[in-house]
Amino acid sequence: MQNARHFAIIAVLVAVVTGLTYVGLNSLGLMPVEASAQSIPIDWLFDLEVKLISFFFALIMVPLTYSLIAFRRKDGDDGDGQHFEGNTRLEIVWTVIPLILVIVLGVIGGDNLRQVRIVDPQAAEIKVVAFQWGWRFEYPQGFSSNKLYLPEGKQVVLKMESQDVLHSFWVPEFRVKQDIVPGRVEDYRITPIRIGEYKVRCAELCGTSHAYMEAPVIVVSQADYDKWLTDQTAKAQLEAAASAGKPDATRGQKLYQESGCKACHSLDGAKGVGPTWKGLFGSTVELADGSSVAADEAYLTESVKAPGAKTVEGFPANAMPSFSYLTDGQVADLTEFIKTLK
Ligand code: CUA
Repeated sequence: MQNARHFAIIAVLVAVVTGLTYVGLNSLGLMPVEASAQSIPIDWLFDLEVKLISFFFALIMVPLTYSLIAFRRKDGDDGDGQHFEGNTRLEIVWTVIPLILVIVLGVIGGDNLRQVRIVDPQAAEIKVVAFQWGWRFEYPQGFSSNKLYLPEGKQVVLKMESQDVLHSFWVPEFRVKQDIVPGRVEDYRITPIRIGEYKVRCAELCGTSHAYMEAPVIVVSQADYDKWLTDQTAKAQLEAAASAGKPDATRGQKLYQESGCKACHSLDGAKGVGPTWKGLFGSTVELADGSSVAADEAYLTESVKAPGAKTVEGFPANAMPSFSYLTDGQVADLTEFIKTLK
């Protein structure tokens, strides 16, 4: 009878502590808003796991704490504890129940992954280029942007590539995270369901400015999205027509923003990971080997395409990846932009 009373008290306490732990963990507000269709099954599974965690936490802590108090040594009792050896029934129970639980969770997890990966064959493709240290989003309409615009309620498939090292595409509000491996194209499917501004950040340590490798992710209505696409396409065509064949500082500035130059090169004279661009053109650059070179078109072109060829005094060698994928026209645009930075 005494035992039944202990078990009854423990059962009630386990129920109470389970509830309190679950409410307490939830009140921490660890999860950002759900901004994608994929986040709903993920959060559902996460919630189920938090419930189980709360229960098992209570199931261990309550009997432990209760025993410490209820069965503590009485005054004057210095005899040995009761000797007993194993309990086969208990051992079977605590092996079989977790086994079933793990199998059930495995099945639920597999089904969850299936829901997250549902493919919409209509999904629009956007190319994502990750580089040290930034993101470029190339739209099939023929323009690129350093902001990722997405339409609400439509699945998109991001075709993600890295220009240099491992990066990882992570928008916490979308829940799904994807590593980007150089030399491979990674598919990332997402269906935004909530209009708003989010941020993609890189979740793979990728060098000096890893912490600043972020870009805005903007989810808008289909109508706003269509308008943005039209505007950007028109702008890109205008730019191309206006300055076909001749270098253009405005395009150079856009490249500076979108190709990752800005992660390391300041425009205001501040020393970054690399030399500032302010006053660079036409200056005399001191090199690490003691010689010096005039910062003309040829030097700047070489510095973009083969940055390892010369090391500027005061900066580490080979710190900059090659940007040899830029066309000669683009490098000329960049040089034109640098010329404006007096
Ligand atoms: Cu890219 Cu960290």
